[in-house]
Amino acid sequence: MSEFDLVIRNARCATAADTFCADIAIRDGRIVSLGEALGKGKEEIDAAGRWVLPGGIDGHCHLDQPTSDDSRMADDFVSGTRSAACGGTTTIIPFACQIKGQSLRAAVDDYHQRAGNKACIDYAFHLIVTDATEDVLKRELPELISEGYTSFKIYMTYDDLKLADREVIDVLAVARAHGAMVMVHAENADCIAWLTERLLANGHSGPKYHADAHPMLAEREATHRAIAYAELVDVPILIVHVSAREAVEQLRWAHSHGLRVYAETCPQYLFLTADDLAHEDEQEGAKCICSPPPRDKANQEVIWSGLENGVFQVFSSDHAPFKFAGPDGKFSAGEDASFDKIPNGIPGLETRLALLFSHGVETGRLSIEQFVALTATNVAKMYGLYPRKGSIAIGSDADLVIWDTGIQRKIRNAALHHEVDYTPYEGIPVNAWPAITLCRGQRVWQDGQYLGKEGMGEFLPCQLPTPARPKPRPEGGVSWIG
Ligand code: URP
Ligand code: ZN
Ligand code: ZN
Repeated sequence: MSEFDLVIRNARCATAADTFCADIAIRDGRIVSLGEALGKGKEEIDAAGRWVLPGGIDGHCHLDQPTSDDSRMADDFVSGTRSAACGGTTTIIPFACQIKGQSLRAAVDDYHQRAGNKACIDYAFHLIVTDATEDVLKRELPELISEGYTSFKIYMTYDDLKLADREVIDVLAVARAHGAMVMVHAENADCIAWLTERLLANGHSGPKYHADAHPMLAEREATHRAIAYAELVDVPILIVHVSAREAVEQLRWAHSHGLRVYAETCPQYLFLTADDLAHEDEQEGAKCICSPPPRDKANQEVIWSGLENGVFQVFSSDHAPFKFAGPDGKFSAGEDASFDKIPNGIPGLETRLALLFSHGVETGRLSIEQFVALTATNVAKMYGLYPRKGSIAIGSDADLVIWDTGIQRKIRNAALHHEVDYTPYEGIPVNAWPAITLCRGQRVWQDGQYLGKEGMGEFLPCQLPTPARPKPRPEGGVSWIG
């Protein structure tokens, strides 16, 4: 009789803390034993000294999210989770986005409908709060937090999404009172609007001007403002998709003042530059339009350093999938749409891990433990999924990736599994790629074959984030804040 459902033999395991060699035994979708010469499994995989890492957790991706124009996201929970699994990601956290005027509850219900029985890997939801009404602040958010929606994104830009500064403060205060995590899209909306108006008035409407309309200072200023508001309210925050030196300087300032300001960066800030928006075939530049935009080589180095030395805790794709061709993608506003009418966002769910592994770990910039922390463990802790997700430990879900390293491959969209008709990373070499992805012990990707099934993935209510609990106020502190 086999003791276990699956045993992975001779695994070279890495967690955020350690590396060790072990057999990994799995029963009922969970890791039940780690050790030498474990008993037999109904199935066995010989990892033969290959890296076996926790499955990736993508804490920032957009799937089937409603838009406010004629565009439509190309990936839903079927194609998005398929693509994630093939790239070694076993949990995603996309966004239930409130449309202004809508209740948060309606946004969550709608997003559950969209997720339906479609996902092949596990998923949780962040909320996007766009309408901070009294009912949202006093009733809906507290209720939803207690039901497992413990993180929410707020925007300081985009007309259809942004909150006024007073609303930002109010949302932060709710997060403080209930221990939730607020993710902030930090760009100064008025700077962007003012620059956009002038660029267009001067006939500068092509995709490359998107970068000029979103300068570093707009990101720096909003990052500083978000940090100041978090300091005012005394609550941790997480600044998402940090692109450049000036925002990094604000993060360092916050850290040097003892503030709990967490930060995320994404592949586009390591592998793309503003030159990718300035393609000789002008329209092609739209493929790399995202906000904040990619910067320059020097800023890529700053972002790499931030990953190496702890400025960033999480590395996410910010997968926001719009097709290049067709009526509902990048040119949904017309073939000659100006840059400000091109939907923001680029695909990256499937390529996130291989890019960071190849250019971070294999080059020696990042340790394998740092890689695991940035792509899985810290994400699980930040959003309340740890220790069920994000580690190789007894009792954790058997979400595991066995890696092939030492390979030579270039990223090609034709080999990816999303529904987007391009990847901005076309042609970039990678020398590592997941050989096998297991989600709760089930193979969803092996040797180039997608093996997942719609509906295998489960919804995960989140606990309160591990690092986000407000510190107790010192005696005599400003307890009236609440
Ligand atoms: O351009 C981007 N990043 N689009 C996706 C939405 C967001 O702001 O994260
Ligand atoms: Zn954003
Ligand atoms: Zn995003």
